Amino acid sequence: MSALFGLGQALLLALDPERAHDLAVKTLELGIYPRAAGPDDPRLKRRLFGLDFPNPVGMAPGFDKNARVPRELLAMGFGFAEVGTLTPLPQAGNPRPRVFRSHADRAVINRLGFNNEGQVAALRRLQRRPGGIVGVNLGAGRDSRDRIADYVEGVKRMATVASYFAINISSPNTPGLRDLQAPRKLDQLLGKVQAARAAIGPKPPPLFVKLAPDLADADLPEVTRVIAANGVDGVIVSNTTLAREAFLDRAFARETGGLSGRPLFDRATRMLARVYLATQGKLPLIGVGGIDSPETALAKIEGGASLIQLYTGLVFEGPGLIGRVKRKLVEAMAGAKVESLAPFVGRRAEEWAEKKLPEVVV
Ligand code: FNR
Repeated sequence: MSALFGLGQALLLALDPERAHDLAVKTLELGIYPRAAGPDDPRLKRRLFGLDFPNPVGMAPGFDKNARVPRELLAMGFGFAEVGTLTPLPQAGNPRPRVFRSHADRAVINRLGFNNEGQVAALRRLQRRPGGIVGVNLGAGRDSRDRIADYVEGVKRMATVASYFAINISSPNTPGLRDLQAPRKLDQLLGKVQAARAAIGPKPPPLFVKLAPDLADADLPEVTRVIAANGVDGVIVSNTTLAREAFLDRAFARETGGLSGRPLFDRATRMLARVYLATQGKLPLIGVGGIDSPETALAKIEGGASLIQLYTGLVFEGPGLIGRVKRKLVEAMAGAKVESLAPFVGRRAEEWAEKKLPEVVV
């Protein structure tokens, strides 16, 4: 099965990236995918935000934008899956080609622009789904007159099917969206979203905010203060970057859009560590960006992540990466003679926070 899947992976990598993605979702829908080897080691369990995660490795949003295959992603071994980004109305996104891959750099650039079938279509699919933790990532429509209202609408509409909400204000591909990260705007947005959540009932799904890795160091304390003051449950760090540093494939690096994969790792982990320190480790963080090996997964946790997500690493490594990461985490716990990952979380945050990287001017 794994050899067969290896062949599948090679075929997928030979196709145009967006077609390969569509085909990967199709094969999951058809049930053609490797199942997790067995139940997770109990030491991988995390209880956070009132949710029981069987393991801390999640599928990042952008792969299953339309909530077609969350069940299959969980069966493949992920501890949770995040669907979306979903906007209130369906939208086509930017003209193709809009996803680019560099094997040499182990990276992807995308400028999809929230192509999705809209929340109603996803809601119907999610209503038919059995258990497991499925987060719903919410966005604002490209042509929306009131972007804050779009997030509020998403919270109201998706409340019955979301294990958690992720407020995505960090995609670089919807012009002006990242302006919502400015503290005053963010405060307004979170105030309204929290009011909508409170109206859902006594136990609404927890709320996370997903940040860009390109926020200036100087702005971060105020951004995290606003997040904490608004009672947000956790922060997801990070989305793709506009930064372009050293690349093997120069033509690739010139494409417009958000960069993910290996070249994002340091920037995203540094930012994660800074958020961890700014919130004194009190707010659980989801670390995402550039995890493509068991070692980078552990490093992300040491940088401050209570949970991790991946996407681009899976494109190059295939689904075997999920099991390899989990095995490494169990080995690390056994080696340290601890029963959970908690002692690892943030133990290298100071080192990561001080890492020297050029600031991105956007
Ligand atoms: C993404 N990502 C993303 N994030 C998000 O919040 N909503 C989205 O719709 C998408 N769409 C999307 C499409 C594609 C093709 C890629 C590669 C990425 C960002 C993703 O969730 C993640 O934050 C980054 O890709 C960094 O993680 P990796 O890919 O380096 O593991």
